[in-house]
Amino acid sequence: SVRQALATQAGHGEPQQQVLVQGWVRSVRAQKEVLFLHINDGTSLQNLQIVADPNMESRDLSFGSSVEVKGTLVKSLHKKQSVELKAGDIRVVGPCDTLAFPFKPKERPSVDYVRQFPHFRCRTNAFSSLLRIRSEATAAIHSYFKDNDYVHIHTPIITSNDCEGAGELFQLEPTSKVNESGENPNFFNVSTFLTVSGQLHLEVMTGAFTKVFTFGPTFRAENSQSRRHLAEFYMVEAEIAFTESLQDIMQVMEDLFKVVTTNILSKCPEDVELFHKYVSPGQKDRLDQMLKNKFVIMPYTEAIEVLKKAADALTFKPEWGCDLQTEHERHLVKHCGGVPVFVVDYPFDLKPFYMRDNGESPQQTVAAVDLLVPGIGELFGGSLREDRLSVLQTRLDRLGLTDAYQWYLELRQFGSVPHGGFGMGFERYLQCILGVDNIKDVIPFPRFSHSCLL
Ligand code: 4AD
Ligand code: MG
Repeated sequence: SVRQALATQAGHGEPQQQVLVQGWVRSVRAQKEVLFLHINDGTSLQNLQIVADPNMESRDLSFGSSVEVKGTLVKSLHKKQSVELKAGDIRVVGPCDTLAFPFKPKERPSVDYVRQFPHFRCRTNAFSSLLRIRSEATAAIHSYFKDNDYVHIHTPIITSNDCEGAGELFQLEPTSKVNESGENPNFFNVSTFLTVSGQLHLEVMTGAFTKVFTFGPTFRAENSQSRRHLAEFYMVEAEIAFTESLQDIMQVMEDLFKVVTTNILSKCPEDVELFHKYVSPGQKDRLDQMLKNKFVIMPYTEAIEVLKKAADALTFKPEWGCDLQTEHERHLVKHCGGVPVFVVDYPFDLKPFYMRDNGESPQQTVAAVDLLVPGIGELFGGSLREDRLSVLQTRLDRLGLTDAYQWYLELRQFGSVPHGGFGMGFERYLQCILGVDNIKDVIPFPRFSHSCLL
């Protein structure tokens, strides 16, 4: 690969290696005596320089074409790279009509322009860096959990429950509405949906495993055209048994964020640098600020007080009981000096049925936590779960959900343990560490309301 070739110490006593490199042409420069090509194969942000005989030039050997080059790796005289490939043979595998191709050599097109070509987006430097970082981040998240004794659970994508109860579900139906006997079959005999969270299935697993996690696609029919919502996104979720403390859950959230981020910074420094230098100048310092400081913890009630003091500058006036708006989240993070802030103990009425009641009055709260981060707002959502059978029974009765959640109640009947967990939006995480403004630019194929390209 190009990455391996670039890592070769050519001319340092090693015999001249005969190699084959396959990739796409990023630039062609023909001089009288020599032909320079730059080749990229997705393994590195850097291109491999090819030096060839000018008579190897051909009409098909143009920007965007795919090629196979055989030759030897030699020490480069250029300061930019230590090694280059002296071509013995160049074969154009797939020519590219450069004039019709949406991208041009040496141009840095805007993200809005690039987004119009989901089938060619990976040909740009920034997006190919993003995809490498995304891949490393995925691996780093799996390592984090593995190193800390979590078991990975594949929670289902098709489900018959509505975990968050927020009504933003995609319902599933077979395309054949009528079967051979002319009946209208309900394939599963129950209404089914694409999952909005794997949490309830992870809770099942806390009946036998002390620590579990899942990391998969999640679907929400949100009509918002915002910079931080997708209809299909990836969520990292963890569930921890034998805990009665929200502090423990927050500790894992903070640790996951810091360990995974540090890991990514060391695994793909060049790709990250592209974002920190060119896409979001100043992001490196903002990220350092997040990594070196202990995250702040602030009860919801206090957050409302802080917001009330700034009410003049806010469009949505803060009141105890209101959900935090994006502008509120931004203000709170700013108030904390750009350090991520855990807002804890939210009003009972704002949160889903499964959260543990703190038993406070007159302002009833639940043991919920959201982590707010600079530039994004909410990155994680988590809570302790209501594990007391009678409390949960009363709540489900009131909501008319007792039948549907019989199995969930039974979990509290047979060897139940206090437990809690969280979910982190993977795309928002990438936005947060890289400083990417729009969530559509951190996922290979974005799906959102009124758009499902490819
Ligand atoms: O806060 P949420 O809704 O929490 C849950 O679903 C819990 N059941 C998770 C758990 O405790 N196991 O979602 C978790 C995170 C949010 O904080 C946000 O980062 C992300 O998922 N998220 C989205 N990301 C992109 N597009 C959307 N439409 C998102 N909705 C939520
Ligand atoms: Mg939430």
